[in-house]
Amino acid sequence: MLSLLPSYPALFAHKEVLSRQTVRSLFDEDSARFDAFHRKVLGWTFDFSKHRVTRDTLALFCVLGREAGVEAARDAMFRGEAINVTEHRAVLHTALRLPRSRSLLLHGTDVVPQVHAVLAQMEGFVESLHAGALKGSTGKSITDIVNIGIGGSDLGPVMTVQALFPFRHANVRVHFVSNVDRTQLALVLRERNPETTLFIIASKTFTTQETMTNAHSAKAWLADALGVEFESAKHFAAVSTNLEAAAAFGVAADRVFGFWDWVGGRYSIWSSIGLPLACSIGMQHFREFLAGAHAVDEHFVHTRLEDNVPFLMAMLGVWCVNVLGAQTHAVLPYDQYLARFPAYLQQADMESNGKSVSRAGLPIADYETGPVIFGEPGTNGQHAFYQLIHQGTKLVPADFIVPLRSHSHVPGSSHQAKLVAHCFAQSQALMEGRTLASVLTELRAKGVSEAEAQKLAPHRVFSGNRPSSMFVTEVVTPEILGQLIALYEHKIFVQGILWDTYSFDQWGVELGKVLAGKILSDFDKGTVEPSHDGSTQALIRMFQTQQPAQR
Ligand code: F6P
Repeated sequence: MLSLLPSYPALFAHKEVLSRQTVRSLFDEDSARFDAFHRKVLGWTFDFSKHRVTRDTLALFCVLGREAGVEAARDAMFRGEAINVTEHRAVLHTALRLPRSRSLLLHGTDVVPQVHAVLAQMEGFVESLHAGALKGSTGKSITDIVNIGIGGSDLGPVMTVQALFPFRHANVRVHFVSNVDRTQLALVLRERNPETTLFIIASKTFTTQETMTNAHSAKAWLADALGVEFESAKHFAAVSTNLEAAAAFGVAADRVFGFWDWVGGRYSIWSSIGLPLACSIGMQHFREFLAGAHAVDEHFVHTRLEDNVPFLMAMLGVWCVNVLGAQTHAVLPYDQYLARFPAYLQQADMESNGKSVSRAGLPIADYETGPVIFGEPGTNGQHAFYQLIHQGTKLVPADFIVPLRSHSHVPGSSHQAKLVAHCFAQSQALMEGRTLASVLTELRAKGVSEAEAQKLAPHRVFSGNRPSSMFVTEVVTPEILGQLIALYEHKIFVQGILWDTYSFDQWGVELGKVLAGKILSDFDKGTVEPSHDGSTQALIRMFQTQQPAQR
């Protein structure tokens, strides 16, 4: 447990010492502060100099990390030990990005050849698609891929396809349906031609209710349009660990792309769950994406904690949550193509570390675990929720993520300069703040009366000293995106070790599924199970009055 680590109390004593200073004053004292508090990792620069930290803080982070056994835990994960204890599984998304030349034995079998066999299968599929050789049942080339999946079988593909849109292949468009709300399926299908559309049914288990409901509706849509005798096998592919269920759905054996139970849903973009991304950007780029993540794996494994970026990201998070009292964490990409990155991280982080039981099964009562992750691309977020980040009563640590170059730049345009200026300015404003004296001086200089200035000034004060990190890269490429995702994956892993949670299960999503099954059974039978609470019974009856119209 974090609170039982010998050095944990030292963090609080250290916070007291630091509270005598602001980050602004630390910059004033130390002209080399940026040098000391940034790290370069591959294509990214990670600047954490605007956090409330000193060299002593970093030393404490490393002591705490070693007491928690971060390095040993990391090595156990990479070795393939069954660290997902509650599901009796290894956690080996890192094996999905190992080069062909490496090997990794799991229960005596080398998994690397299996991984590369699936990559080769994906390559064959993607090349036929791009060549126009993948035909629908009427003989026309497939032009549109619709991925049907949810959670980890959707968020990674959606986010990465959007993030790497500049690298898309001209012949193919990729779309996504995740929600069981039929509106999403209807909106996607409205614009599709059934003759040239292929669905990827992406589900690790191939039992997820939302996905299977959408998959059957997609089949019905094809049958309606192409006639009941249409060749279903030509319009479906599947990605799953449940090969039998995929075959039973009617997917041809050579179009079922497997993966393994040692790949968690929210860590599966590197597996065949990445097929929509590969369809969009091609296998060469997909392999670069994997290589980017692998390079971060190497950094994470071989770099001492003092310079280990995922470790530092994790410890800054622990510092903000457990010592400074933050409840949330903002993820703010200044790149429109990264618009879905915060949503992707919500699942990666909150499904991993949103836990309140220790690995020994004890309640975690005296410290907080994973924060609420949220975010929107800049500069839009600035005009929505940044007010609270700057002047609210809550401390909201933020990650700014910014490529210096835009894929959309045209000569003479000032968009990128303005975007980057705003990004840098926001982190500066959060750190520097604005004093009462400076606001008063400005108001007086504008000729505002003294009485009015005194009245207005408090509302214009910024406390400052609000922590943020800056992630800077030159331009987002498949390799750079792979690096970014892997940095966050390992950050989440380290935090799970510190917080003493099991980061690779998700039992918290089960109860709602079970109860939904009972409610659905009431809907089907026209009954109301008396074991439901009064509120739920009343709500069920409200739906049942609509049933003839809605079933
Ligand atoms: O939301 C719970 C969850 O199990 C996620 O962890 C997973 O990514 C998602 O459902 C989808 O599961 P599947 O890929 O099995 O359909």
